[in-house]
Amino acid sequence: MKSPKAFFKPLALGAPAPLKETPVALERMIHFVPPHIEKVRAKIPQLINQVDVILGNLEDAIPADKKLEARAGFIEMAKENDFGKTGLWVRINALESPWALDDICELVANCGDQLDVIMVPKVNGPWDIHYMDQLLAQLEARNNIQRPILLHAILETAEGVNNVEAIAAASPRMHGMSLGPADLAASRGMKTTRVGGGHPDYKVLADSMSEGTRFGYQQDLWHYTIAKMVDACMANGIKAFYGPFGDFSDPEACESQFRNAFLMGCLGTWTLHPSQIDIAKTVFSPDPEEVLFARRILEAMPDGSGAVMIDGKMQDDATWKQAKVINDLAELVCTKDPDLAARYSN
Ligand code: GLV
Ligand code: MG
Repeated sequence: MKSPKAFFKPLALGAPAPLKETPVALERMIHFVPPHIEKVRAKIPQLINQVDVILGNLEDAIPADKKLEARAGFIEMAKENDFGKTGLWVRINALESPWALDDICELVANCGDQLDVIMVPKVNGPWDIHYMDQLLAQLEARNNIQRPILLHAILETAEGVNNVEAIAAASPRMHGMSLGPADLAASRGMKTTRVGGGHPDYKVLADSMSEGTRFGYQQDLWHYTIAKMVDACMANGIKAFYGPFGDFSDPEACESQFRNAFLMGCLGTWTLHPSQIDIAKTVFSPDPEEVLFARRILEAMPDGSGAVMIDGKMQDDATWKQAKVINDLAELVCTKDPDLAARYSN
């Protein structure tokens, strides 16, 4: 077993020291762009002001004959824009693919100092993270990169879900994890053809002994996995995210899927279509009424201990901690979003 102190030593001579804490950043939406398309690259300066994270996608949805153009397009877009507080992430190709090694080497060599996070698809276990960790340290050293590039795993294989705790704890380079419902459905043999969201046939039917109409209520196909992912992430001080929602024609279902993930502990989601950006912004920013109530709890218990009643509801040390989660997130939102900042201060 690795000694605890060794986790915080660079894995290559000359690589930057691993971070002890996951950086605090507002990441309500990770907006996916296909970097091989010039028209898309031209819109990056506008997009920087609209979203919290821009991710250049090199993996699935990029045709095999466009993989190299996507990589080059991403490097160009990283070099030509000032991202300010907006995160710059990339999703590389899967480690077993013919493109992954050159994706990693070329990205670090050409835009390693601009890159915040590498999203690694189809992570099956901690070994995938260890491989990335060592290789990135070598490349950071070779290219004189000043801060460690973080890793974000997609949870999208049955084996990955089995190993989710070990993946979350694999390295100080871990930023977080996203649910990948499309690949995960295939890997598990689920009988669906959707990208995220529910299924009308996954329901619980009222008992045959019940009187009147026999209602069936749709259940959440992703509840188990999201809960497992959130616990693994939070227990290791890293962040959990919902992934893609593929039905762009159903904003209500998209909002509901995002909201379930938010309430369960996720900090953000992927947005694949511009129409999903505002949905994510609304859902992953705490509700103004909830923020005002949370602040009343914090004010009523300045040292976070004891018990008070507010509007007939009991508050104690535990609800103080819940209120702090909501208030901390609201304060982070205020640093980027003046409209919400105004609504939170009423
Ligand atoms: C995302 O990559 C997914 O497979 O859902
Ligand atoms: Mg996938």
